Amino acid sequence: MRIGAGSAAAGAVAKITLLEPSSMWGADRAVAASDRVRFAAIGTGTRGCQLLEASLLVPGIECVAVCDLYDSRHEAAQESVQKKVPATRNYREILDRNDVDAVIVAVADHQHRRVVVDACAAGKDVYCEKPMSHTVEDGFAMVDAVHKANRILEVGSQRVSSIVYEKALEIYASGALGEVFFIEGSSDRNSPGGAWVYPIPPDASEQTIDWNAFLEGAPKRPFDAARFFRWRCYSDYGEGLAGDLFVHLLSGIHFISGTNEVAKRAQSSGGLFRWKDGRDFPDLIETLYDYPKFRVALRCNLNNAGGEPIRFHGTKGTMEINGQTLTFTPQNVSPKPETYSTLGWPARLRKQYLAQWKAEHPEPAPLDYEANEAMIFSAPEGYSDLAAHQARFFDAVRTRKPTVENEVFGNHAAIGCHLANYAYFENKIATWDAAAKTIRG
Ligand SMILES: NC(=O)c1ccc[n+]([C@@H]2O[C@H](COP(=O)([O-])OP(=O)(O)OC[C@H]3O[C@@H](n4cnc5c(N)ncnc54)[C@H](O)[C@@H]3O)[C@@H](O)[C@H]2O)c1
Repeated sequence: MRIGAGSAAAGAVAKITLLEPSSMWGADRAVAASDRVRFAAIGTGTRGCQLLEASLLVPGIECVAVCDLYDSRHEAAQESVQKKVPATRNYREILDRNDVDAVIVAVADHQHRRVVVDACAAGKDVYCEKPMSHTVEDGFAMVDAVHKANRILEVGSQRVSSIVYEKALEIYASGALGEVFFIEGSSDRNSPGGAWVYPIPPDASEQTIDWNAFLEGAPKRPFDAARFFRWRCYSDYGEGLAGDLFVHLLSGIHFISGTNEVAKRAQSSGGLFRWKDGRDFPDLIETLYDYPKFRVALRCNLNNAGGEPIRFHGTKGTMEINGQTLTFTPQNVSPKPETYSTLGWPARLRKQYLAQWKAEHPEPAPLDYEANEAMIFSAPEGYSDLAAHQARFFDAVRTRKPTVENEVFGNHAAIGCHLANYAYFENKIATWDAAAKTIRG
């Protein structure tokens, strides 16, 4: 289909292609009974329940137990998985079960390390939600735990398994963008929910929630439902906008550009302008990253809804991902005589230059892509990158071949978030010291 493209360059036409989901996601793909993977979910809050619902689309897996610190979430998890599976507050009971091959860990970020390290030691493979780590130290402890126990770990930035990102990777790797020196991404929202001001359920109390278990690895304090349900706002449990949202942008950028390393340096700016509810983090943050081959500019703003675009600016074209749509717009780089700077020349010299230019360029050079024609690729209605990402994890559990977003990839993306916060809070350029595995100012 060809249409005049709103999002592409003015006057351009665009070719739209509907992407075919790969067999990875094929919900109808048969899996032998002997290959069935039994899993349990640890942390069945908002994300845990989403993951359980999406797991119903993945063939050859079965949820056998769920775990959460808040009792009403046992019920929510059973509703999501459409089965009255056993539920507990204590994740160690899950790890002790011999019928559990793998665990999906969707607990608050400060608990990732504890649960993942214990799960690996218990011989379970792990799907761990993003960002992998709460601190740099946590990330390396988790990598060590996975390697020591020879486990499969996939981090939960699901877009890395999206067909849209696969197409972006193909375009990037083809060289159609030319050389890419600048990549930008943003994640902007404008609502209380977007700013993590989540409602507190009416039955929330110290009786229904294991508050002390939630505080493991964090400073002790009296029960505070806001901290339990809006933990992203507090540095004891979350990493603010960088950990929550930059991590998706960084994971996507790393995947598409074939980068599996931490940026060398980061500089941040921002501020807390509007959501002054006692939170520790800014509601606007912008970070500039120095990678060896390109620079990356990221922004999160909770004061204007702008979606989550990622843009790759190449010498031959621009590629933008926005939601489930990818647009590639070539730049017209066919050779042409330079006319602007010759405006200050007398007509006879201009004529002479143009004649010489024409003689030196008898034919226009062929273009890789037809100039002025944008290409738009879109995922079909109902496509779930979350189910695709889980399918990839469970396939890795069967084949023992690591997924792309494994512990090393996830650790690198998370360190990018820690760099952004370090630069913001320390008011310094954050430098990554890879040998010492630490951030320096
Ligand atoms: N990939 C994505 O797009 C995406 C989206 C949302 C959240 N997440 C991630 O998922 C994780 C959970 O986020 P959420 O929004 O569901 O938070 P949430 O607060 O809704 O749920 C977290 C749950 O974890 C439970 N929990 C905490 N520590 C526990 C422990 N030791 N044992 C058992 N349960 C424990 C809590 O009781 C809570 O119910 C976070 O790491 C978050 O960053 C990822």
